[in-house]
Amino acid sequence: MARYAAIAGTGSYVPETVLTNFDLEKMVDTTDEWIRKRTGIVERRISDGDMATSDLAVRAARQAIKTAEVDPLDVDMIIVGTVTPDTLFPATGCYVQQGIGAKNASAFDLSAACAGFIYGLDLADGMIKSGRYDTILVIGGEVFSNILDWTDRSTCVLFGDGAGAAVLRGTDEPTGIIASYIGSDGDNADIDLLGVPAGGSRLPPSHETIDKKLHSIKMSGREVFKLGVRIMPESAQRVLEQSGLTIDDIDLLIPHQANLRIIEAVGERLGIPREKVYVNVDRYGNTSAATVIIALDEAIREGRAKQGDNILLVTFGAGLTWGSTLLKL
Ligand code: ACO
Repeated sequence: MARYAAIAGTGSYVPETVLTNFDLEKMVDTTDEWIRKRTGIVERRISDGDMATSDLAVRAARQAIKTAEVDPLDVDMIIVGTVTPDTLFPATGCYVQQGIGAKNASAFDLSAACAGFIYGLDLADGMIKSGRYDTILVIGGEVFSNILDWTDRSTCVLFGDGAGAAVLRGTDEPTGIIASYIGSDGDNADIDLLGVPAGGSRLPPSHETIDKKLHSIKMSGREVFKLGVRIMPESAQRVLEQSGLTIDDIDLLIPHQANLRIIEAVGERLGIPREKVYVNVDRYGNTSAATVIIALDEAIREGRAKQGDNILLVTFGAGLTWGSTLLKL
């Protein structure tokens, strides 16, 4: 009998501190008007004090576990999609395991930039289908504010902090992950296109890397924009084909929340009406691996995503990496 990975519960958490475009006007040479017009972002959340990615992730995970009515001891695996781990190692997944008391789980991090959560869903789907695992907690969480150059107006206005979590459970019902696809393109693993140059084995930390601000994100915005607009619709099309559904069967499209103009272009290319496209980039900015799961959790809580709905998640990020998930709630 076919096995499916159902979404048993979701949760999300964003820090309380709000950083508005007007706050940014006082920090760099920018305006609220420029940021709104070019990105759709109005404000973003910034991690308070010493809150690291696992602190946000634990809060999101607790909510997901509670909603799913799962005992933490029944969680078999924890996957944390993040490029802002608490530490290079131990894995943020292990801190989350400790934080939620999931003593029987294996836990690790998954580095696929903004596609981290979708990659995690794909992995969890395969693990559950294999029959070796039954209950998997997939998280996307980031504290991007700690890897931003707060003097670089071309990047610091775009990102925010947050985490989201989903509990996946095995079922024989044809529900949950109906189709899944992930891809990457190492030819675009270009640090000038999108990435953090220093801090790894290629360029370890030194006075020079700090002086040159090489521990913060570098991005060629215009190039990334074009790639996102091309790759996301292609990726979404793949899962539609896999599932035998068409865009008309989709109740809600949740694209990666990087830029409202990219979101709108993806919706237009796929031919889905605007009211079926979920947007919260105005409130949170780009939270990288966390965007689609924060949005899914909000959509469920707001009643915009209901039981039986077909939900299409699609994302892309540095690497390049990309992926899509077709869910039946
Ligand atoms: N305020 C005011 N002016 C600015 C700002 C700012 N915050 N940032 C840049 N500008 C200026 C530039 O200097 C440039 O000035 P110039 O014409 O005098 O040279 C002008 O605005 C236009 O800059 P562009 O980069 O061409 O502006 P664009 O319309 O492309 O918008 C943006 C820039 C918002 C970054 C856009 O390209 C974008 O959203 N790109 C995609 C970003 C993205 O999706 N990232 C995903 C990351 S995923 C991950 O894995 C982390």
